[in-house]
Amino acid sequence: MTETPSTARMIDYWLGGRHHFPVDVAAAKAFEGAYGPCAVIFRSLRDFSGRMVTHLVTQGIQNFLVFGAGVPTQGNVHEVATGAHVLYTDIDPVTIALGQEILAGHGRAAYAFGDATDPDGIDPAAIATFLPGWGREPIGVVFLGLAAFLDDPTLARTLDQLYRAVPAGSMLAFDFDGEELAGHPAALAMMGEGFHMRDPAGFPALLGSWRLTADGIVPVARWRPDGDPADVPDAFYGGLALK
Ligand SMILES: C[S@@+](CC[C@H](N)C(=O)[O-])C[C@H]1O[C@@H](n2cnc3c(N)ncnc32)[C@H](O)[C@@H]1O
Repeated sequence: MTETPSTARMIDYWLGGRHHFPVDVAAAKAFEGAYGPCAVIFRSLRDFSGRMVTHLVTQGIQNFLVFGAGVPTQGNVHEVATGAHVLYTDIDPVTIALGQEILAGHGRAAYAFGDATDPDGIDPAAIATFLPGWGREPIGVVFLGLAAFLDDPTLARTLDQLYRAVPAGSMLAFDFDGEELAGHPAALAMMGEGFHMRDPAGFPALLGSWRLTADGIVPVARWRPDGDPADVPDAFYGGLALK
């Protein structure tokens, strides 16, 4: 149990999961009071993740390194790429412990501490065990729900470090918060000072050497939608970039 809410566990609540605590539910409800209903937005975001992971598998990706992973349920990476190897990482100890409990005994998916801003600090034993293709095969780098917590110089440096760490053919799935909350100051205030919204037009400059695909950067519901895109506010934008 914890007294500190986590955005990852608030998302689990909105997605109908059961891996969150009363403090997360209270924070989620307070946020909805300031912004409006969130479940449909986060379902759309998780569906974007699912379409992205499915696409990466069709491109031959069999090893996924996930940053700021949150709670590994409700359509998360290993539940979509069922035959792939997945290493989830995060910095929040409570969320990591939940993730390790959820994945206990899973042969191909695991959860470890990993600070995205210091990818070289991830336990090499966890990488060797759970990403057997590391260093030899293209990696799917999943960077979802995380950019908002990094300022521009830190994000650009981190994405550059990741680019240099993975082989050619690797793919970066990313998203970021647009400026939706600018119209909801009370909700924005709840996200705290270290929360970064971004104009989609400026994001490509942060990708460094990663090559954005022709899909471009679009509201997540409109990234390769299955049928009509979900009718949700353009709160999150995302895309795919290649090495
Ligand atoms: C909004 S949640 C996103 C969870 C999940 N990726 C999703 O999209 O539903 C953000 C997560 O990023 C984690 N986080 C924040 N800063 C981080 C960092 N520097 N490195 C790794 N994880 C970080 C938080 O602990 C939290 O679990």
